[in-house]
Amino acid sequence: MQRVTVSTPGKLILLGEHAVVYGYPCIVAAVDKYLSVSVTELDAEEDKIVTPGVADQSFVKEAIHIFKEKFSLKKNISLTTKSELNNFGLGSSAAVVVATIKALTNLFQIDLPNKELFDLAYKSVLRIQGKASGFDIAASIYGGTIYFDGKTKKTELLSKKELPLIVAFTGRKGNTRAMIKKVYELRKKKPELIDKIFCRITQLVKSGKEAIKEKNWGELGQVMDENQVLLTKLQVTTPAIDKLIIATRKAGAYGAKLSGAGGGDCIIAVVSAMRQRQVKKALRKNGGKILDLTVGVGGRI
Ligand code: MEV
Repeated sequence: MQRVTVSTPGKLILLGEHAVVYGYPCIVAAVDKYLSVSVTELDAEEDKIVTPGVADQSFVKEAIHIFKEKFSLKKNISLTTKSELNNFGLGSSAAVVVATIKALTNLFQIDLPNKELFDLAYKSVLRIQGKASGFDIAASIYGGTIYFDGKTKKTELLSKKELPLIVAFTGRKGNTRAMIKKVYELRKKKPELIDKIFCRITQLVKSGKEAIKEKNWGELGQVMDENQVLLTKLQVTTPAIDKLIIATRKAGAYGAKLSGAGGGDCIIAVVSAMRQRQVKKALRKNGGKILDLTVGVGGRI
């Protein structure tokens, strides 16, 4: 029986989280850690789904459901996953949805352009999560470091090279759904203030875009520092995140911020080759777990 395997990279958001949910742009980079999905046809009454390394199976189930609905498929499948993303907030939900749909199109020899793959994957995530921008789906499909427009969902490739970033896990898994809800409630209470913050974040995303293109890492670090101040105003940072960020700056990083929804997960720091050792040491000393990954190089599927 034919078995098809597809691997998609995880991601880290560099600038613009939360604002991107409301149609503003962000910058996201794929990482060199992957999630694989293998599928075969199955002669059984229902699908067999085994997903080690994927915390929430509902994303996979929804992706299969949407795929079958779209292509009026009556057959059942066996699906298994293998993940290098663990529970570090590297976008495993988006990666597993993209890999599932891509694996199914390969298995059933359906030609699905990337734009339509994005639309199907985004629909799956929205049905489970309610609110999401789709930036992580774009990162899993296109790889590299990309500028993502939250309104049009268009992407622009900024770089395919490794970025000088250190990534550290805070030790606590963030809850994306809860953090999105928190910002939503805050915006309901203070719409003008929050929209002003989103506009300022957008200016930073645009400066960050130029900094990445010009490889101006000092500027990128400064932009990240400013984005972190605004994320603090959105109330999504935590004492553990702040502690790690302060430690990186003291050890000579160009700048640092949380990456993702907040409430836990990872921090990212822009660090010159000369300062890598000191920054890593400071992060470990302050309870951070350094993730062994390269940012900005995850390939296209
Ligand atoms: C989560 O990693 C980033 C958010 O902006 C959500 C999203 O864009 O879907 C908070």
